[in-house]
Amino acid sequence: MARRCALLLAGMLTAVSALPAAGATVTLACSGLGISFDLCRDGAQEWARRSGNEVRFVSPPKGASEQLALYQQLLAAGSPDIDVFQIDVVWPGILGNYFIDLKDRAGPDVVGRHLPAMIEAATVKGRLVAMPWFADAGVLYARKDLLEAHGRPVPQTWEELQDTAALIQREERAAGRDRMWGYVWQGRAYEGLTVNALEWIASRNGGTIVDPDGTITIDNPRAAEALAMARGWVGSISPPGVLNYMEEEARGVFQSGNAVFMRNWPYAWTLVNAADSAVGGKVAVVPLPKGGADGRHTSTLGGQLLAVSKFSAHADEAADLALYLTGLAEQKRRAIHGASNPTIPALYEDAEVVAANPFFAELADSIANAVNRPAQATGMRYNQVSAEFYANVHEVLTGRQDAKAMLPDLKEALVRISRGGRW
Ligand code: GLC
Repeated sequence: MARRCALLLAGMLTAVSALPAAGATVTLACSGLGISFDLCRDGAQEWARRSGNEVRFVSPPKGASEQLALYQQLLAAGSPDIDVFQIDVVWPGILGNYFIDLKDRAGPDVVGRHLPAMIEAATVKGRLVAMPWFADAGVLYARKDLLEAHGRPVPQTWEELQDTAALIQREERAAGRDRMWGYVWQGRAYEGLTVNALEWIASRNGGTIVDPDGTITIDNPRAAEALAMARGWVGSISPPGVLNYMEEEARGVFQSGNAVFMRNWPYAWTLVNAADSAVGGKVAVVPLPKGGADGRHTSTLGGQLLAVSKFSAHADEAADLALYLTGLAEQKRRAIHGASNPTIPALYEDAEVVAANPFFAELADSIANAVNRPAQATGMRYNQVSAEFYANVHEVLTGRQDAKAMLPDLKEALVRISRGGRW
């Protein structure tokens, strides 16, 4: 097992900084959608320059679920090969035992600067197992030029989105743009589908799969309605290939001008407006639609944290790097250059941050109204819960299962995972 991990890791090492080895060499696994890896590398190299240490980078697989599987394998084998891990906001309960407590190293002033919800997500049994690095909230990217040309407002409900997407897709295709689709999102069977499906369901007041107190709520008519509606999009307003899309595939279609709407995280903002984008300046970022008139605008809270392995041979330097990268100056730089959402609320009022990301003001509300995946309630079992959920949702989206018929089975499976509700 350890040998296999070492081999895997050897294949993943992508860059070695050219600095002289004055201090320790700290290995950092940071990943990223879009330009996130570059942002990470630039920040870490600056830390290396200032501190006289060296940083080695590991680039893990792209999908959140594949990353988790690899990290679990490495950490379970006690591998010291990675010192600092970028982890998903839903992983502290799963991986927290492998990480050192950063509470005293950060100190109360630094901890107190961050969004309390992110600190809470990073805390397992009183231990701060990671430092918040950036927050994510699902948003709707809309082609404002197409909405205007076709005389349609920004959709407020999923029903409106569906109608507008169908109309614009039809008219654009009739005008010769035959690769146009209405709506692209993340439909592959992975963590990102849990995120999307939770947004459809929560926006229809259909709960969050498992409640904060551990009650399994997924088998309800609103959830069934939400999933049935999404099933109807596949092959009509969304390309059949959406069932294999993660974030970057959706961005590829949208950014080349072939979709009216896209669901994605804020990172895509910088890229859809970059010089090589076909849609620069034509895009608005707006809240995700409500599920019906009595639904609500919401989004799934995502985000990434930095954690230090307890197997690290350089825990002091590793913690210093994690604290540097999650600090105010770095979060500001990342917000300006990569639309990375700070976990330090004060930065949402920073003039340079606001100028680079005009939609951040709106996003502050989205983050405040965001729903959490049930990671806290399900603890170590979150990944099993999510995998069971996204696999079943995927079956509905492919048409192999009916939404209403699937939910009681999913509930049963979750009861088993929860050991009868005790988690
Ligand atoms: C983003 C989010 C993360 C989420 C993942 C799903 O990386 O930050 O929370 O789990 O997307 O693909």
